Amino acid sequence: VHEPVFRHEALEYLGIRPGGRYIDATADGGGHTIDIANAIGPTGRVLAIEWDETLFTNLEERIARTWPRGNNACVLQRTSYVQIENLVRSLGFGPVDGVLFDLGLSSFHLERSKRGFSFQNHAEELDMRFSRDLRETGADILNARTHDELAAIFRDYGQERFADRIAAAVVATRGRRPIRTVGDFLDAIAAGIPARFRRGKIHPATRAFQALRIAVNREFENIEAGLAAAFAALAPRGRIAVIAFHSGEDGIVKRRFRDWAARGEARLLTKKPIRPGADEVRANPRARSAMLRAIEKIS
Ligand SMILES: C[S@@+](CC[C@H](N)C(=O)[O-])C[C@H]1O[C@@H](n2cnc3c(N)ncnc32)[C@H](O)[C@@H]1O
Repeated sequence: VHEPVFRHEALEYLGIRPGGRYIDATADGGGHTIDIANAIGPTGRVLAIEWDETLFTNLEERIARTWPRGNNACVLQRTSYVQIENLVRSLGFGPVDGVLFDLGLSSFHLERSKRGFSFQNHAEELDMRFSRDLRETGADILNARTHDELAAIFRDYGQERFADRIAAAVVATRGRRPIRTVGDFLDAIAAGIPARFRRGKIHPATRAFQALRIAVNREFENIEAGLAAAFAALAPRGRIAVIAFHSGEDGIVKRRFRDWAARGEARLLTKKPIRPGADEVRANPRARSAMLRAIEKIS
């Protein structure tokens, strides 16, 4: 099971109270969902949303195992969190006291999904979709987009300094035969990065892989739309807490939050992002890059 980050801080910044109504927008294995359910007690409710079909089934099983006699406080929905406002309306779930976003991917995606998220598994198909609701895979994008569109993906979503050269290598590779697997993409990346930059602290394919994954799942568009939908669903004094894992994600959250604060619609609960302590990083290496920001809605 995916190890949750900021377990204590997530509850603290959501301002959790017994009887409240909360949304876990990115439930995955339900680590935070279960913490929230325990904190709100039998009169509270938590709506847990997960987009990935496999992870959603695992979540249902985990909740059923945790409360074998049922738990009326937990409502589970398999969809994208961009639907939060519609869901709250159709389920009659409001008024919402807090929404938690724990962005990015699950350890499951990298380690067990077999969908080409990790550059360790060369033979896997380069799929990278969180959900089959999405039509285009990573391979589809590499085979279909123009050189300039691909370069923009690598640059804007991965801060990849060799974005142009990798895009050119992808176009040259697919001119010989379609790109299909993780290995095909790795070969193109290696061809695009000058030899003396291929050895460094991080694997040379890290940025291009992250960028393609963000493009496949429309992650940045979804963060914008999800935050707006969550804010609209929030009761006055309701809170949003977001855990981000890289500057691309955190930048979107920071700008949105500052914008609401500048317009007098929300109060920042974190001026700078909260970072994990040394103990948490030691126990859970994924926490190393985690950043938490939170706001409270004013009206
Ligand atoms: C970092 S994990 C969440 C971990 C979870 N909080 C826990 O501690 O177990 C992020 C999850 O968000 C899901 N996800 C990504 N985009 C989503 C979206 N647009 N709507 C709903 N879930 C999404 C991913 O499938 C992944 O399972």
